Amino acid sequence: PSIIFFHPDGRRQQIEASEGESAMQAATRHDISGILAECGGNAMCATCHVYVDEAWLARLPAMGGDEDALLDGAAAERQANSRLSCQIRLAADLDGLVLSLPDRQT
Ligand code: FES
Repeated sequence: PSIIFFHPDGRRQQIEASEGESAMQAATRHDISGILAECGGNAMCATCHVYVDEAWLARLPAMGGDEDALLDGAAAERQANSRLSCQIRLAADLDGLVLSLPDRQT
């Protein structure tokens, strides 16, 4: 599945991800700046924070309690469409997923 990232300056970057990996893993593999992922995907750091395009929000798996709690402490403002990209597992039905990067992760 492909993922489209929008940087805070409006720059658009499209990458090819593999099914089964997380959006965070795909982003770090493709050197997407703005995803730090300090904890390596264990839902412990919130430095993989993204804003999910509204059209995709309902198609993502439900948020876990850890993720919910961590997002409250994210460096950039939490919004209704905030998620941790390490908790978004990619499948074929998420092809074309659109994620925006926050202006900071720390
Ligand atoms: Fe640390 Fe997602 S990589 S919470």
